[in-house]
Formats: sequence, structure tokens, C-alpha cells
Amino acid sequence: MQGIEIIATGRSLPARSVTNQELSKIVDTSDQWIRTRTGIGSRYYCEEETTASMAIEAAKKAVQKAKINKQEIGIVVVATTTPEYAFPSTACLVQQALELPEEVMAFDINAACAGFLYGLGIIAPMLQNSRKPYALVIGSEHLSKIVNYKDRGSCILFGDGAGAALIKKSEKDFYHKGYTRGNKECLYCNGLSSKKEDFYLHMEGNQVFRFAVSAIEEGIESVLKEAKLTMEEVDIVLCHQANGRIISHVEKKYKEYPALFYKNIEFYGNTSAASIPIALDEMEEKGLLKEGQKLLMVGFGAGFTWSSCLLTI
Ligand code: UT7
Repeated sequence: MQGIEIIATGRSLPARSVTNQELSKIVDTSDQWIRTRTGIGSRYYCEEETTASMAIEAAKKAVQKAKINKQEIGIVVVATTTPEYAFPSTACLVQQALELPEEVMAFDINAACAGFLYGLGIIAPMLQNSRKPYALVIGSEHLSKIVNYKDRGSCILFGDGAGAALIKKSEKDFYHKGYTRGNKECLYCNGLSSKKEDFYLHMEGNQVFRFAVSAIEEGIESVLKEAKLTMEEVDIVLCHQANGRIISHVEKKYKEYPALFYKNIEFYGNTSAASIPIALDEMEEKGLLKEGQKLLMVGFGAGFTWSSCLLTI
């Protein structure tokens, strides 16, 4: 157990929001199908924005809100499957734009939609060994450039955006679990290594759906066990916003408990590594995060990777 707490959050979304109706003009789909099967009403698509520009804006907002001395930030992690460049890392661009000190470790990680929570798991022990008390953990994705608009089974799901959290070394409890079950077939993107026609994201939606439900349940149970807590003591469960139906499915299983299962997928779609920090920032803005509350977060995605953590607000 390595103590951390979330000091401040920020988010950045592209200016252009794309409704289901708009999408149905280029894809054989309908608002009704998308809403019923996913809970999504609209998502954002980058035009001028990029993975780096959104990561930078979200991080700036978090740092401004925290009102801390930037010299005290020792780590910058960007979780992304759509980095600005193969190299340098997007995190280096954040370091530059925020004029952070040179004595900072800045790097990207790719654990697909579990990336933000992997990031928290990585920085927690790093902060314990650091002379600097703060880390920035960011999720930023430009998925609209890798989805295949000829595949209606996947393109309707994804959106672009970024969220950032300023994390502080703390005495408060932090429990973390991380998992991998090597799988390439169900969800992958050949990207740069591909022939042009095979560039896009591929997804076996049904199989990923089944994996997602079991990963969330396992993530919840394993981190509760680690923390020696029960679901009765959890105030908020924040799942990766992959599909509203996945969250509802798990919510039903825990319906006798008081925990709020937060959902905001209606307005963002699935933003992969960015979905959890975007939701955190929105929850903070709505006054839903109150001091002393227990927050349980679960992420899952391509790889298959999944991760859960439990912390105190
Ligand atoms: O974040 C990373 C992890 N990703 C996920 O967790 C995603 C998990 N999977 C899903 O969210 C769902 O599988 C999808 C939303 C992607 C797809 O929903 P589904 O209920 O699994 O649909 P399906 O692929 O089983 O297709 C059911 C039917 C098919 O028609 P027939 O064969 O029954 O006639 C599809 O052709 O729905 C059809 N369909 C559509 N119809 C209208 C598939 N996509 C669309 C569409 N619009 N966009």
C-alpha cells in the first residue's frame, strides 16, 4: 500500500461534438440503436485538437486548480493508445508546455482503456521514493483517427478527449490491483506497423463485452479484499465508460449496496484511457466527490488489461 490522494483534476474536450444523428449520415446506424445498445448520445471528435494539445490543456487546468508550485512535480505520465508521436512521448510535450522543471520523469504508458489506473499504480510507489510530492497522471486519446467508419459495430462507440489528475504523496490509503491476460484477437489496432488498409481499430464487440463484465467484477472484488473493506463501505464506483450497458450490468449485481455507479458516457462515448479522469473532473465539478469518501475505480480494455484501485477522497 502506497498512499496517494487526488488534489485536483482537469479535462479537455475538442470543440466539435458529433451526435448519433450526424454519424448516421455516414454510417448505416440510428440514434435509437446506438442509445439502446451503448447509452451514447454524442461524442467529441478532434479537428484542430490533438492528443498532446488536449493532454496539455487538461494538465494545465489541474495544476491551476491545485495552486501548487510546479517545481514540486516530479513525475508526468500520459496514458494513451494514440500518442502524438512514436517519440518523443506525449508526456515530454506536457513537460515542455507547462514549463515543468527538468528534474521530472516524463513518459507515456499504453495499457489501453486501463491506462489511467495503471498510471496511478505506477506512480504511487514512485512518489514514495521521490523527493518531490506531486505527480501528474493524464489520459488523452484521439481515437477518431483510428476508428474504421466502415465498421458500424465499433466506430459508433469511440470519442476523443483528455483528463488529468494531480496526485500527491499522502498518508491516505491507496490500494491497487493490475492484471493482464494476453489477447490480440478481440481488440487491436495495427497502426504504424500496418499496411494502409489494415490501419484501423478492430473489435470483436461481443467478446470484449463479456470480458469487460467479468473484469469489472474481478477488479471490484480483488481490490476490496486487498483493502479489507466491503462494498457496503464504498461511496462511489467509477468504471471505465466503455458502454453504458456494461456498467448497468455490474450495477445490478451490487444493487443492494449504497455506492453510486457514475455514468457520463452519453456525452463522451468511450474515450479509452481518458474516460476515468474526464469523469473524475466532471464529478468534482458537480460536487459529487466529498472529503473522506471511498472511491473505487475500475478500468479494462485491449490486451486484455484491467486494473482497479480504492482511495479516499
Ligand atoms: O473500451 C474498450 C473495451 N470495449 C468495450 O468494452 C466494448 C464492448 N462491446 C460493446 O460495447 C458492444 O459489443 C457494441 C456496442 C460494440 C456492439 O453491440 P452488440 O450488442 O454487441 O452488437 P452486435 O455486434 O452483437 O450486433 C447486433 C446486431 C447485428 O445485426 P444482426 O446480425 O443481429 O442483424 C449488427 O449488424 O446489431 C447490428 N449492428 C448495428 N446496427 C445498427 C451493429 N452495429 C450497429 C450499429 N447500428 N452501429
